[in-house]
Amino acid sequence: MQVDRADMAEAAAADMAHVLVFPIPAQGHLNSFLHFSTGLLRAGLHVTFLHTVHNLRRLGAAAREAAAASPRLRFLSVPDGLPENDPRDAGGIPRLLEGLHTTGGPAYRDLLASLRRAGGTADGFPPVTCVVADGVMPFAWAIAEELGVPAIAYRTVSACSVLAYLSVPKLIELGELPFPEGGNLDEPIRGVPGMEGFLRRRDLPVQCRSLTDTYQDPLLETVVAATVQSRKARALMLNTTASLERASLAHLAREMRDVFAVGPLHAMSPAPAAATSLWRHDDGCLAWLDGQAERSVVYISLGSLTVISHEQFTEFLHGLVAVGYPFLWVLRPDMLGVSQGAALKEAVAAAGEGRSCVVPWVPQRDVLRHRAVGCFLTHAGWNSTVEGVVEGVPMVCWPFFVDQQINSRFVGAVWRNGLDMKDVCERDVVEGTVRVAMESSEVRRTARSLAEQVERDVGDGGSSALEFKRLVSFIRELSSTSAAEPDLSSE
Ligand code: UDX
Repeated sequence: MQVDRADMAEAAAADMAHVLVFPIPAQGHLNSFLHFSTGLLRAGLHVTFLHTVHNLRRLGAAAREAAAASPRLRFLSVPDGLPENDPRDAGGIPRLLEGLHTTGGPAYRDLLASLRRAGGTADGFPPVTCVVADGVMPFAWAIAEELGVPAIAYRTVSACSVLAYLSVPKLIELGELPFPEGGNLDEPIRGVPGMEGFLRRRDLPVQCRSLTDTYQDPLLETVVAATVQSRKARALMLNTTASLERASLAHLAREMRDVFAVGPLHAMSPAPAAATSLWRHDDGCLAWLDGQAERSVVYISLGSLTVISHEQFTEFLHGLVAVGYPFLWVLRPDMLGVSQGAALKEAVAAAGEGRSCVVPWVPQRDVLRHRAVGCFLTHAGWNSTVEGVVEGVPMVCWPFFVDQQINSRFVGAVWRNGLDMKDVCERDVVEGTVRVAMESSEVRRTARSLAEQVERDVGDGGSSALEFKRLVSFIRELSSTSAAEPDLSSE
């Protein structure tokens, strides 16, 4: 067999290709980046996974074990700039992004400069040849390029939400933003391409609602600016698939240097979630599910950042009890504040003996694929959305913030694999929507066929699998042109 020169060049570059991945330190982003890293490792590349100091300490043994199991993976960290006792919750995201930029940025620059030197590290890793940074941290790819390392932006959210953020300047120009004071949130939005037929004001990223002529929402401003700047990255990578988001991807492709739709990555990856899970899984819930009838359980999780009031908790609880199915409910320790303990007891008592399982954190992927789960009441965070889609589980969406409002619109009005109860948290609505999700054969059929389509996308020869291969080749090509700096440290 003849090995041609191009193959040999690619093999050599493959050995040397070393990607530094840098997610923001939020659970959904960490999971998504770990699944991506698993794909890179499988393709033969080296991966340095950059955590924050706070999270790497919090992950402790789980991260060490994952790195020990894979000789081409290591975890390093930079500070996030926040005091140790900061809650690092949803309300603090602008502060976190600022801290990452101002304190994490210089540390990242120094680290990357040292990792770029040939022989710069003692653990035998080759120099870093490419950076894949979270698409909401433009400083990370700007610094990489300044140091001569090509950089790709990875947005872990839906293509439709990225397109919506990118369209914000145009929505302002068209007068569709800011919304008139007291205006009807059901009014259609025409300025996001491809979504003219179904997008309403209430479906735009929720920060759009707080925008006024005199007030600029800092989180919206940051995310829009990052989205606009991703045009400068070598490519934009998204954890989605053409069959779910063809139109949005086509619009984005016109705006970016290149776009890769490689998801849902978790469906291609057996990655142990424990390596990035900030909470400890309660595996007892799987034993509880084992004892329940087929498709009889409502699974409720609102992700890693949502906080709810006691009133909202009470409405959810009454709605769930009224609909009458057993439920598995993830109530994180920081979700309800001081009333958490009482709420837990209240939920268990209201459901009746053995009819509920309320835990702080579950292995969500295993839960969603369990035969006992009949529907998923979710905040429609993008990871949860695609995890639900992959398992073919009907969804009820109660979006909390950022991209979740638009994701839930796609679930309810475009894919129709579930229902969208955004902006309402009333027991009757919870009861009614959960009942439809549990009992409608049409919703179940649609959810099933969507899952089959996505399974084809990620399977051999499917669109996402081919996109992932194209991305790996792209990274190798970038790596072969990104020569390491000589190590002058010992001179
Ligand atoms: C955040 C934003 O909220 C979300 O809108 C955005 O799309 C990504 O960043 P998060 O709120 O954490 O993410 O939601 P989501 O994207 O759904 O990610 C949550 C992750 O935690 C999922 O991968 C889910 O499987 C996992 N999870 C959740 C668990 O492993 N156990 C649980 O008990 C709950």
